[in-house]
Amino acid sequence: MIISPSVLAMDYSKMKEQTEELNNSKADWIHFDVMDGHYVPNLSFGPDLLRGFRKLTDLTLDVHLMVTDPAKFIKPFADAGADMITVHEEVLHEYEKVMEMLEYIHSFGLRAGLAINPMTDVRRLQAYLHHCDLFLIMCVEPGYGGQPFRPASLAKIKNLRRWIDHTGSEALISVDGGIKFDTGRECALAGADVLVAGSYVFKDDIGKAVDSLVHCTDRTEADGKAA
Ligand code: DX5
Ligand code: ZN
Repeated sequence: MIISPSVLAMDYSKMKEQTEELNNSKADWIHFDVMDGHYVPNLSFGPDLLRGFRKLTDLTLDVHLMVTDPAKFIKPFADAGADMITVHEEVLHEYEKVMEMLEYIHSFGLRAGLAINPMTDVRRLQAYLHHCDLFLIMCVEPGYGGQPFRPASLAKIKNLRRWIDHTGSEALISVDGGIKFDTGRECALAGADVLVAGSYVFKDDIGKAVDSLVHCTDRTEADGKAA
């Protein structure tokens, strides 16, 4: 299980210490939520902040662009040190536009991801099984951390898992929004490869929270809560 803590929930007065805690945890990636105040109502970070994280960590920087015009931001985030960039299917929508964007991200040597919102049909991802490195299933409406997990996401993960396995696609399934021990476990059992978690990881002991997610499928819920 790959864990990608979302630094949207970080305490920025402790950016260095908390990034060090992530470095010392079992987290593999750092999830970086970019919001433009237009595609989603909230506003978050730009490439300069990512450049700061790049200096503090060797973990994979997993950039999630919640923006209306992703094309504008691929190069700046690639230059700032992103390892992978995920864009939303909803802002591109047409097959040619999605393909062009995935190729553009790949042209910087980065891994490319495609995200869908809770209201978007998972079948919209089917055409890209062999063109994406990652599918990001949003389990909340994008824009804010700390929202409750939507259980309807589980059926999407199961379908996608089946398509990936049947076609020999190597894409990973990542889940984002409302991920805690119990919801992370359900997603992992449904076939997710990557758990993105913000408020759960940064609530208290970062290392312990990450560890509980790494082992969510081999512990009972009660064990996880004790961890
Ligand atoms: C929501 C973001 C998420 C968010 C998750 O728009 O894409 O990555 O940080 O936060 P939690 O884990 O608190 O739901
Ligand atoms: Zn995200």
